[in-house]
Amino acid sequence: MNIHTYEKAWLVAAMVLIVGFIATITYGAVGPGIAMIDDDGGTVDPDEINDHERFSDPGVDHVGGNEYEVTVIAQAWLYTPEEIEVPAGSEVTFYVTSRDVTHSFSVVGTNVNTMVIPGQVSEMTVQFDEPGEYGVLCNEYCGEGHHTMEGLLTVVPEDEFDLTELSVDAPREVEAGNETTITANVSNGMQDDLETTVTLEIDGETREEEITVPGDGSEEVAFAVDTAALGEGEHDWTVTADGYEESGTLSVVSATDGDENGAGDGGDGDA
Ligand code: CUA
Repeated sequence: MNIHTYEKAWLVAAMVLIVGFIATITYGAVGPGIAMIDDDGGTVDPDEINDHERFSDPGVDHVGGNEYEVTVIAQAWLYTPEEIEVPAGSEVTFYVTSRDVTHSFSVVGTNVNTMVIPGQVSEMTVQFDEPGEYGVLCNEYCGEGHHTMEGLLTVVPEDEFDLTELSVDAPREVEAGNETTITANVSNGMQDDLETTVTLEIDGETREEEITVPGDGSEEVAFAVDTAALGEGEHDWTVTADGYEESGTLSVVSATDGDENGAGDGGDGDA
């Protein structure tokens, strides 16, 4: 069979074009490292979010090394948490779901841009190398407050980042002569041990205790306070640990007649 030279040329050109198109599409899909969000993240019942293992406690979790997990709930018209902080040099996996309607979770200036669908968990991993601030926006129209739906992601220098929390349990009022305690609880959300000094300052007197808080754990320090030594009146106290501070005032009142055994340690936990 004789095929005309021009026809052969067109056949070859058409083949080259087809192969070229397929190569372009294949490169576009896998080459630049753009991953589509799939349903690997799993599902969650939107009505049971508050009892869900992950979504009942949204926020930043340290997995180990430089790996973190950030859990976010989208709802009309806010993200929980609204502000996210992660360290530079971290690899962050986001888990996002919606409480109500379809939203999106888009971290401006990165390739994080996913739909957030009620019942579905969107999961994606991003590397944050440099400190910086990124806006978080909703790109899916979700009602009249859509344009106000935003959050903030801050990548802080590695040495400024921790997951320490300090809470203090101290009585508001205690009767003179009774002993009482001011208790500091330091919790450490990182997987590594935290060595820190817990300091109580009351009436200008400073007391310190060195503690090691295990990874993903907490440690309590109870400072015994002698109200007889303090005397009646208002006494300001400050507790510090790992750069965090809590303060309050302890009132030492005179023992009332009718209540001599006075359980003065009200311990209402008001820090
Ligand atoms: Cu949420 Cu738009």
